[in-house]
Amino acid sequence: MSFPIVRNRRLRGTAALRNLVRETQLTVHDFIYPLFVTEGTGVREQIGSMPGVFHLSMDQLEAEIREVQALGIQAILLFGVPDHKDDLGSEAYGNHSIVQRATRAIKEWAPELLVVADTCLCQYTSHGHCGVIKHDERSNRTEVDNDLSLELLVQTAVSQAEAGADIIAPSNMMDGYVQAIRAGLDEAGFSHVPIMAYSVKYASAFYGPFRDAAHSAPQFGDRKTYQMDPANGREALREAESDVREGADLLMVKPALAYMDIIRQLKDQFDLPVVAYNVSAEYSMVKAAAERGWINEQAIVLETLTGLKRAGADIIITYHAKDAARWLAQ
Ligand code: PBG
Repeated sequence: MSFPIVRNRRLRGTAALRNLVRETQLTVHDFIYPLFVTEGTGVREQIGSMPGVFHLSMDQLEAEIREVQALGIQAILLFGVPDHKDDLGSEAYGNHSIVQRATRAIKEWAPELLVVADTCLCQYTSHGHCGVIKHDERSNRTEVDNDLSLELLVQTAVSQAEAGADIIAPSNMMDGYVQAIRAGLDEAGFSHVPIMAYSVKYASAFYGPFRDAAHSAPQFGDRKTYQMDPANGREALREAESDVREGADLLMVKPALAYMDIIRQLKDQFDLPVVAYNVSAEYSMVKAAAERGWINEQAIVLETLTGLKRAGADIIITYHAKDAARWLAQ
């Protein structure tokens, strides 16, 4: 007995047909573009390991913001690179801290642009960890003090909201951070400000270039006691579940490309928007190969971002956002 050939190619014959049946549409509204703001004036310093990404001082920021807006990008993620670091990361939560100052300025230049504020201590602590460090005499262990760190992170989030941040994005991975920050924001009168929870954040080698960029590599140890083991998938659901219960508004998976199965699972299991963070090494590897002429950068980037959406991401944080916006507008 012979079976008829299944004519799967019938809907691929022309561009119009392909447009008609396309399942995933990538648009500029999907993107959040990360920016690194630093002290000083006249600083527009390219990050060595991230071609096309810059440290910008406040006076250089306005032009960048105008460019981002002109490209149709609606949201930026703001990281601070302060001059001063100390044990308690005090530059993170002061009213005159760099992210807070930049947020105020951006809100004047571009009130509709969404400012997503990174809420973490690692760029601000002298030891480079995401919280404050405590040495326990009895066990002779030096580790991140979860609950003390939470207090400082709440202060950071509240001061960012006061400065005008539209979304708080805590990337610190302390236990209970969503609940603590939610309570702090509510109490301070910011119950309308959403939390983008870094729910599923793996202890990943893909953050390498970012740590150069943010000068935030841990000075001792690593982040494995608070970030997740890349081998674990079910634990990701547990992390997301607890953030949902604590009041998260958006759920993030980070990094993106080695974790597309996790993006899909979060999409299927929860009804909150899913955010994929296409992290620094994912960007730098593409840039490096493109510089050598080994790949077609535009095609690779658009395929990657489309793949992330297809996997279930509603929002993509990506250093490719400006380029992708240009290509999508062609
Ligand atoms: C730390 C933070 C990291 C990134 C964003 N926030 C690095 C880390 O956890 O070590 C990585 C982003 C990237 O690699 O693009 N709070």
